Amino acid sequence: MNILVTGGAGFIGSNFVHYLYNARPDWHITVYDALTYAGNKANIAGLDASRVSFIHANICDEAAIDAAVADCDVVVHYAAESHNDNSLHSPWPFVETNIIGTYRILEAIRKHSKRLHHVSTDEVYGDLELDDPAKFTPDTPYNPSSPYSSSKAASDHLVRAWVRSFGIQATISNCSNNYGPYQHVEKMIPRQVTNILSGQKLKLYGAGENVRDWIHTEDHSSGVLAILEKGRIGETYLIGADGEKNNLEVFNMILRLMGKDQSWLEHVNDRPGHDMRYAIDSSKLRQELGWEPKYTDFTAGLQATIDWYTENQAWWQPQKDETEAKYQELGR
Ligand code: NAD
Ligand code: DAU
Repeated sequence: MNILVTGGAGFIGSNFVHYLYNARPDWHITVYDALTYAGNKANIAGLDASRVSFIHANICDEAAIDAAVADCDVVVHYAAESHNDNSLHSPWPFVETNIIGTYRILEAIRKHSKRLHHVSTDEVYGDLELDDPAKFTPDTPYNPSSPYSSSKAASDHLVRAWVRSFGIQATISNCSNNYGPYQHVEKMIPRQVTNILSGQKLKLYGAGENVRDWIHTEDHSSGVLAILEKGRIGETYLIGADGEKNNLEVFNMILRLMGKDQSWLEHVNDRPGHDMRYAIDSSKLRQELGWEPKYTDFTAGLQATIDWYTENQAWWQPQKDETEAKYQELGR
């Protein structure tokens, strides 16, 4: 099996590459990545070069993506602009990569009759009230809030249209908030952990009531592989591990695990249009494909993540100042 992983040098894509490398030793993996500010070849360093190759290219490059898709059996598509705050500041790269890039992949998949798994987000469904008894299911209507989530929603619609109109072999997954190693320091958990490690305060948006449904990135990887191998063509599966927590709770856990008191917590300007709550009902994936998350103890997973950032300062230091300078411009 030759598998092409777009965005395989980013956070979730590189974790998937490591997962697959161990789980399917007879597969050949090709990582296809433009190495934007969020991509880092160090994330996939140390893997056997006879089993993992790398193409440095943009998914919007029609000729490059066409050639890469022609050479593989299946594509798992992670490449995206992924950060909401960036999309509020500068939406165009989100439209270009997430919509046009996905379109290019779909056209190559159609031309070469290959199998595609499209990786998407729970944010396409908009947000829930704090006391809403319902969770997101594959039947929840799309209602995205930000340039990021609307561009991901558009990409999902393109995939469904290509399945129905052209009969391509594709599946979609929508996952909740991931945490774990190799996540860029712009995102909530790594930003706070590396702030403490750099002697800076934690930056909490608004009152911290917003709820995210946390899942360890390795559980996301096992969900994607299960869908790739056993999922029904044309279907959408939601991936989540029942990990709902509000931001203040997570900030307090980070403070406690890193031995800091409340004086390290700073309230900053809220994100415009900030989604209140995400929550995933993953029963379709569990019942139909027998998937179960492995990392059900969030405190243990968070501690392991804190340890990873503590031990890998050389990995995140080069991103830190530039990231905080961007946040300073946004007043957050
Ligand atoms: P990331 O920003 O860490 O990584 C994105 C990767 O894509 C980087 O390696 C980057 O270089 C590459 N890339 C960006 N634009 C590209 C382009 N035009 N051509 C080729 N490569 C390009 O993102 P992430 O957090 O790892 O998210 C990966 C995927 O998972 C995205 O599709 C995202 O929407 C989805 N997702 C993320 C989460 C989350 O919690 N982070 C949750 C659910 C779904
Ligand atoms: O739900 C899946 C989505 O999760 C993915 O599709 C996105 O790619 C991913 O970035 C993530 O989106 P969020 O916007 O939820 O993640 P982020 O880490 O940016 O923020 C998580 C929560 O923490 C959110 O409520 C905003 C808040 N926050 C974030 C940062 C960076 C803070 O309070 N302080 C911060 O410094």
